[in-house]
Amino acid sequence: MRIRVEVGDISRWEDEVIVVNLFEGMDHPGGATGAVDAALGHQISAMIASRDLSGAFKDVTGFPTFDRIPGNRVIVVGLGRREDFTLDRVREVSARAATKVRDMGLTTFATIVHGAGVGEIDLGDAAEAVVEGALLGLYRYDEHKTQPDGKRVEAMTIVNLEKARAGEIRDAVHRASVVGSSVNFARDLINAPSNVKTPRLLTEKIRAAAKEAGAKLTVYDEAQLKDLGFGALLGVARGSVEPPRLLVLEHAGGGRSKPVVLVGKGITFDSGGIALKPLEALGADPMWLMRYDMAGAAVALSAVLAAARLKLPVNAVAIAPVTENMPSGSAQKPGDIVRTFGGKTIEVLNTDAEGRLVLADALGFAKTFKPQATIDLATLTGAAKVALGRMASAMFADDASLRERLLRASEATAERVWEMPLWDDYDEQIKSDFADVKNTGGRSAGAVTAAKFLQRFVDGFPWAHLDIAGPAWIEAAPDSPKKAYLPTGASGYGVRLLVRLLRDWKSPG
Ligand code: BES
Ligand code: MN
Ligand code: ZN
Repeated sequence: MRIRVEVGDISRWEDEVIVVNLFEGMDHPGGATGAVDAALGHQISAMIASRDLSGAFKDVTGFPTFDRIPGNRVIVVGLGRREDFTLDRVREVSARAATKVRDMGLTTFATIVHGAGVGEIDLGDAAEAVVEGALLGLYRYDEHKTQPDGKRVEAMTIVNLEKARAGEIRDAVHRASVVGSSVNFARDLINAPSNVKTPRLLTEKIRAAAKEAGAKLTVYDEAQLKDLGFGALLGVARGSVEPPRLLVLEHAGGGRSKPVVLVGKGITFDSGGIALKPLEALGADPMWLMRYDMAGAAVALSAVLAAARLKLPVNAVAIAPVTENMPSGSAQKPGDIVRTFGGKTIEVLNTDAEGRLVLADALGFAKTFKPQATIDLATLTGAAKVALGRMASAMFADDASLRERLLRASEATAERVWEMPLWDDYDEQIKSDFADVKNTGGRSAGAVTAAKFLQRFVDGFPWAHLDIAGPAWIEAAPDSPKKAYLPTGASGYGVRLLVRLLRDWKSPG
């Protein structure tokens, strides 16, 4: 979709659709919506009076203009009550308007910046949210359909009256276009079936993206991983005929400062290994869904790609251990003991607890970058999803300032995080009789014992862990957030959060 910014009066703008908005409880709209109302002989006010239009949040009301104004149709999106208004509502109504335009089979529309007038939200923030909402809402994964639905929005024009502020809006549009397309890039990777994103194929996709973004990609193959001592990653990879990879993607925008390191779990298919998962089971996700087990890697890599495209003044590194987890005659077996990059040993009691194994190596490797902080993202445990559903990730943080940064980025992006404990009492559950630690802690506090396991491999830097098993995937079910900018399938959860975190990294406080 092309996105343009124009100076003008939307009531005089010619387009297939013009999109304006309405707060609930207003008899007579103000601002741009008021101008459209006046130009239409107060039709909007009349529709409010006749209760054909309420401004209720998420309401989308469309009507033709019959040539009374240059725009062919008007769509009024409801912003809800003023006292309930938030930036995230701007994302949401923008997504609703854009998908409505698409579903009507139309291809272009013009919109005002929702929330920047009466809503009193900063113009740049609101413009970013409008663009993000539209890009995220219009996303569809139809890569493998030979006859994709032809409905496609080709252009969106943001129309704003104040000439002096067009630059501000253009900057915001640029930022949001990069962020929105980065989220959608992550979604494409996560939605892709496992046969087209084996570790080798995924590597090539990232190689192309890194080149385009101007980020540096280093790829470690199986032989190099052996030399480096990635015993846990290689243990998981043993069952597959597809060789593993370690991807390291670097954006250098922060001069000589230490990098922020993002680590992402990259299991391109998690069958469970010898502890084979059932194809489907009551209360559990079907096995085919386990292609999203590389969401952490996709999100960490996409965030660094976005940082490079935005030229953020920070050094950022994404580390992604990528492999399949498969059963076979060569697969690792329950009871096997592996030695990690940092030298610690792990007793593999359950081959299905493979995420923490590959992350153990990756966290050890992170230390070699002398990070300012390290954040890992992983679809790590079904237990995190049981605890919080799909509404938030489970956050574990061993550092107050990193926790605050994540909470602030979460607030700004509406990508929710909810903190869970890292009390040492949980260590009892992962004590091993035969190695330094074991990879399962039983059913109690499954998300916490997984985090405690990871913490054993963190050495010398502030660390946070986001278990994204819930929010990484959206379903048309009551346990998923009902948002028009989150279509079903991969959500890309975490990209906006991490880019926000990196953007704000230098700012004080
Ligand atoms: N990838 C799964 C976790 C998962 C489950 C993600 C459902 C998304 C949806 C992970 O590798 C796994 O299998 N975890 C086990 C750990 C257990 C064996 C200790 C789990 O959560 O059951
Ligand atoms: Mn598993
Ligand atoms: Zn897994």
